[in-house]
Amino acid sequence: MLAAAGTAGVAAGVTGWVTGIGTSTDRSEAAASGDPLTDPEQVSSRDGVLALTLTAAPGVSLAGRSTSALGFNGSSPGPTLRLRPGEVLRVRLVNELDQPTNLHTHGLHVSPEGNGDNPFLSIEPGQTFDYEIRLPEDHPPGTFWYHPHRHGYVADQVFGGLAGAIVVRGGPDLGTAADRPLLISDISLDGSGNVVSPGPPGRMMGRQGDLVLVNGQHRPVVSARAGTSQRWRLINTCTSRVLSLRLEGHRLAQLSSDGMFLPAPVERDRLVLAPGGRADVLVRPQDPGDYRLLTDPFDRGHPGMGGMGGMGPGTATATGPITVARLAVSGQSSAAAPLPGPLPTPPNSLRPGPVDNRRQIAFTMGMGMRGPGMNFGFDGRQFDPQRTDQRPALGATEEWLVTNSTPMDHPFHLHVWPFQVVETSTGSTTPDTLRDVVLVPAGGWVRLRVRFADFPGRSVYHCHILDHEDLGMMATVHVKP
Ligand code: C2O
Ligand code: CU
Ligand code: CU
Repeated sequence: MLAAAGTAGVAAGVTGWVTGIGTSTDRSEAAASGDPLTDPEQVSSRDGVLALTLTAAPGVSLAGRSTSALGFNGSSPGPTLRLRPGEVLRVRLVNELDQPTNLHTHGLHVSPEGNGDNPFLSIEPGQTFDYEIRLPEDHPPGTFWYHPHRHGYVADQVFGGLAGAIVVRGGPDLGTAADRPLLISDISLDGSGNVVSPGPPGRMMGRQGDLVLVNGQHRPVVSARAGTSQRWRLINTCTSRVLSLRLEGHRLAQLSSDGMFLPAPVERDRLVLAPGGRADVLVRPQDPGDYRLLTDPFDRGHPGMGGMGGMGPGTATATGPITVARLAVSGQSSAAAPLPGPLPTPPNSLRPGPVDNRRQIAFTMGMGMRGPGMNFGFDGRQFDPQRTDQRPALGATEEWLVTNSTPMDHPFHLHVWPFQVVETSTGSTTPDTLRDVVLVPAGGWVRLRVRFADFPGRSVYHCHILDHEDLGMMATVHVKP
């Protein structure tokens, strides 16, 4: 048996309490918490290997309650996996769910074949599967995450609580007082702690939970001393919710996006994270006080079926800011901790080219050909794991124009090979760095460049509104030597 190796850190023990669930119109307001933020358990590599068993099963504590939500090894989020470039991740996945599942290492530049980061695998209930994921020696250090990817069940399982952070170690010592993952998720629970799943309209919209949680806690408190800095590894693990984050009284110094360092820190009043997206930020409090980390409502459009009223359970649409967490700053007012200068050289920019091949790829939604409901897909086709949609050559640099003529925003995500956004319909500029999720606005487009380097094999690109992915908004890419 494989055992958890080198366990360190604090297990996520949640001790909050809840009042008025089910009686308040704003469940998010009612489920009080205010406990100190806890980090998920950490599991670190040893002698070049990170070996552990991850058991997916229902029945975890969330927001201080016993729930039917799903966890890995009894907790949601699951353990944080910490390893270095060049090391091997060996996960024995044990499926104790009543439906098939599998495991995806979102954002890692690793092989999609065999028992690697292979989204086509299906691990049936009661089965066990051994993954082996080898990081290249030059893998960028940064923040990544893992979650199930079994088509048809992804939204339910991630909404249910199955997610965890992956930290690829390395990079500069930022001299921070703390370095912690903040996995921001949302979920809907009924009065008995059962996860509430949406009906077809909610899935078409993309479900949003009533409760927004950080590391499985409702509105936890992060403590900090004025004059110090903390590195927050923000991960949007929500099924569909776009986070539009701001921290009262502070600017966030963004260090990286989707696990890749920016050329230098960028100070932001607001940070928008699409589902699946990440950002590492430095928080540098100066004055004692209590500050809320808020997410503001974000209009990502609507499937466009007028007159349906609400979208049903599990599709909370906030009309105002939601408190995600609080920052409690102690000590004396002081100067802000310094910002680091240039960050480790990001991978070479793909902007100057050359480009070996160009493709155009369209998010499409139409009335279903196969029964009721909408046909979510790319280029008018729903996902078919047997069909190969794109065949780039290994090592080629391609330019993809990803268009979206639908009335909703869709976050575009490609596995294994990170991309660079070179132009968008909104004219928004992005720093020269690679990423793996980009929000393509309704009626807009994004032009990106991808180098299909290092790993041949078959994988997928999809909408990271996971309900849309399950509805068929996913396609395959086969990189051939
Ligand atoms: Cu985070 Cu294909 O997914
Ligand atoms: Cu992914
Ligand atoms: Cu979508």
